[in-house]
Amino acid sequence: MTDNDESPLLSVTWTDPVTGRQGYLVIDRLVRGVSSGGLRMRDGCTWSEVAGLARGMTMKEALHYDPSARYIPFGGAKGGIDFDPTSPGAYDILVRYLHAMRPYIEQFWTTGEDLGLTQAVVDRAIGDAGLIDSIQAVYPLLTDQTSARGRLAAAAAVTVDDIGLGELAGGCGVAESILTALDHRGTGHAGVTVSIQGLGTMGGATARFLDQAGLRVVAVADVYGTIADPAGLDVEALLAARDPFGAVRRAELKPGWQDLPRDAWLSADADVLVPAAVSGCITPGNERDIQAKLIAEAANMPVHPEAEERLVSRGVTVLPDVVVNSGTNAWWWWTLFGDIGAAADEAFAKIRSSIRQLTGRVIALSAESQLTPRAAAHLIAAQRLPEITDRFGVYRP
Ligand SMILES: NC(=O)c1ccc[n+]([C@@H]2O[C@H](COP(=O)([O-])OP(=O)(O)OC[C@H]3O[C@@H](n4cnc5c(N)ncnc54)[C@H](O)[C@@H]3O)[C@@H](O)[C@H]2O)c1
Repeated sequence: MTDNDESPLLSVTWTDPVTGRQGYLVIDRLVRGVSSGGLRMRDGCTWSEVAGLARGMTMKEALHYDPSARYIPFGGAKGGIDFDPTSPGAYDILVRYLHAMRPYIEQFWTTGEDLGLTQAVVDRAIGDAGLIDSIQAVYPLLTDQTSARGRLAAAAAVTVDDIGLGELAGGCGVAESILTALDHRGTGHAGVTVSIQGLGTMGGATARFLDQAGLRVVAVADVYGTIADPAGLDVEALLAARDPFGAVRRAELKPGWQDLPRDAWLSADADVLVPAAVSGCITPGNERDIQAKLIAEAANMPVHPEAEERLVSRGVTVLPDVVVNSGTNAWWWWTLFGDIGAAADEAFAKIRSSIRQLTGRVIALSAESQLTPRAAAHLIAAQRLPEITDRFGVYRP
């Protein structure tokens, strides 16, 4: 494919022979024969959602291109299964999907957890589908496969206060992107209020890092509703009360915490809004309810383009997904290729410095060129894609 080609390189639609439900794989681009992108499972997942997410992954990979690093970005891809991950049969359909995608996972597509799935579940299903692991397509590119895989396995085994490093990497980046934006405005961190949609992998870790930085998390939505406390929620207590799908067990709510409707997170009296759950949740129909002046997209594609136009026209900054949530993907590759070791401190330092630099660059370009931060990020990615092609050529099997 060429750099300007709008069509994905490869698109597969799979129909589950048992349930009739569908799953998708979209490979937007290959670099050195490999693509990277997670796998989501949700009731209502569509091909166009997966294709948009795959294009976003191409940009995230390009935005982290550093010619002097060991990790060289791959192309973008994404998988999606239209099924409720909490329903009986969810694990079996996941295994059948992965089995069907086996040739692509073996050769072209490295994947991992996304909405509705944890890395532990993906890893178990990968084994049950007869595969070696979810990133085996990259093995032929490793010079020392044993130490690279050992380093990644060691990093995946690290926990910090009961949460795995792999689950913290993304939220560390989201929080750093927000702190960078606050620093550019000259706003301090202490007492800045935050409302978050989602308390799973991304939302949970983001809440922890922002809380530790002195911000006040006043509302958190999960699939059942919004938990709020204008005085500030006890984030560690919330994290400890999560079920395996990232929802908070309501029996463990603390006195004083309000249990509000699911959409209440959006209109919360908060300075910063962090959508960290579903795509398309901020729409032209609900955008006017938002009071926050900064929105950081921890989720992929949470803000509808028309809603973004209106938000921007009333002075709200929207930091785009391709920057804000790019920490997890990059962390995997920095670790595997040996740019960093397995320790949590090293991981957090690298994520923070890279995301701070990238967010700062996007904010500066946006101010200089009168572009939205999203348009600025897409411009930077569009400039880097030909550099990557010049270095590695267009992939031909
Ligand atoms: N996990 C990753 O590594 C990763 C990396 C980058 C981006 N993302 C993006 O972040 C978002 C969240 O992914 P995740 O892995 O944290 O998911 P997750 O499954 O771990 O958690 C999802 C959370 O959202 C809540 N939720 C689900 N539907 C909701 C609804 N309609 N309203 C309110 N809350 C709802 C769930 O209760 C849960 O708290 C997705 O858009 C995903 O693409 C994830």
